[in-house]
Amino acid sequence: MRKALVAGNWKMNGDTDFINELVNSLVNSSAASVNADVLLCPPAVYLAQVSSLTAESAIQLGAQNVSEQANGAFTGEISLAMLQDLGCEYVILGHSERRSLYGENDQLVAEKFVAAVAAGVKPILCVGETLEEREQGETMQVVARQLNAVIEAAGIDKFADAVIAYEPVWAIGTGKTATPEQAQEVHAEIRQILAQNSVEIADKLRILYGGSVNAANAAELFANEDVDGGLVGGASLKANDFIAICQAAGA
Ligand code: PGA
Repeated sequence: MRKALVAGNWKMNGDTDFINELVNSLVNSSAASVNADVLLCPPAVYLAQVSSLTAESAIQLGAQNVSEQANGAFTGEISLAMLQDLGCEYVILGHSERRSLYGENDQLVAEKFVAAVAAGVKPILCVGETLEEREQGETMQVVARQLNAVIEAAGIDKFADAVIAYEPVWAIGTGKTATPEQAQEVHAEIRQILAQNSVEIADKLRILYGGSVNAANAAELFANEDVDGGLVGGASLKANDFIAICQAAGA
């Protein structure tokens, strides 16, 4: 049985006061004790703050991005060692906003994945198609390309502690959620690709759905056999909504 995971991706939102209030609400709620892993991914400058607010709770910490380089003259970048220093256990990699707005390609995402695994930080690898790709019937081609690029570069064994997030680009921040059937269909195919490389890892690996997950649709998405939780953007900034989503994952 895979333990569900709910990750809140705050993106570039929040400030010190907002984060104090939000995280205190979560720490003092059932989100901190559900039968699912709960993870917060704040902007990097607030990792230390969230780390200290969650220190006494089961809520875990993740980053939204990381450099593939270890250290040195890389102005503006943040290393895996720095993330670990602040208590990060996970890092989101290859989010569609990183791919489309900051030019991250499959190769760079694969390099980051390899570096994260080597450092002992668990990658949450994001894959997903655009609306145009879906309409042209290319969904699985795109997802398979994004996934295979990393499998080829890293080797399937490196996926032992990894998480995959299927995030259809057309569903991110748009209020348009994939139907439970659409999500399950792609998740099952992702698991099939993994199984072609290792049945054991395919069975164990958690595949999250992301894209307009909210308090009202989380339960029916998570009820699918191959949907092992969610990567939640907008709704993770509202304490009550995020708590409800965590409860749906732990049910
Ligand atoms: P959303 O974002 O829940 O606001 O659609 C999800 C994500 O981009 O991770």
